[in-house]
Amino acid sequence: MAELIAYFSRAEENYFNGKIKAVEVGNTQKAAEMLREITGADLVRIEPVHAYSDDYKECVAQAREELQKDARPQLLDCPGSLDGYDTIYLGYPNYCGTMPMPVFTFLERYDFGGKTLKPFCTNEGSGMGRSVQDIRRICPQAKVEEGLSIHGSDVEHAGEALRRWSRG
Ligand SMILES: Cc1cc2nc3c(=O)[nH]c(=O)nc-3n(C[C@H](O)[C@H](O)[C@H](O)COP(=O)(O)O)c2cc1C
Repeated sequence: MAELIAYFSRAEENYFNGKIKAVEVGNTQKAAEMLREITGADLVRIEPVHAYSDDYKECVAQAREELQKDARPQLLDCPGSLDGYDTIYLGYPNYCGTMPMPVFTFLERYDFGGKTLKPFCTNEGSGMGRSVQDIRRICPQAKVEEGLSIHGSDVEHAGEALRRWSRG
């Protein structure tokens, strides 16, 4: 059966080792593309209808508000079903200790019965936070494997870690 990499990522302003910098491609997207090279898996982006602000501080305020409200932001095009996949790599940045809320929307959309979920999370120091517990709570039918934490500012050097982790 085929494998899928589903990821959320945001470009523009972000913190890199303590400094705000604008980037054209987000850290998780870079990690997801490296993983595609390694595994040959299909790639799909999790994208909210209303994009987060390019401004870092505004984006943090939006993400905090969504978390407080336990929001489920609407998504742009997503696969109709994940029936053809038995393994789904799930990539996201750590937002306020867990996944961005659009990833919650994505997970609630599908039946993960009999599927394996492999989470990878880019972050600036908090690791996976409580994201893996959240995934297990939302997808009790899935086999949720140990996640891979990647330091976002250092994502260019994550190839070897991704290779080892993807081989299990
Ligand atoms: C809204 C927001 C909240 C964040 N919260 C955390 C956090 O709680 N802990 C952490 O280590 N990093 C946090 N970060 C940093 C991101 O997780 C990190 O920069 C990540 O690599 C960004 O991925 P992306 O470029 O794919 O969007 C946050 C960044 C943003 C924009």
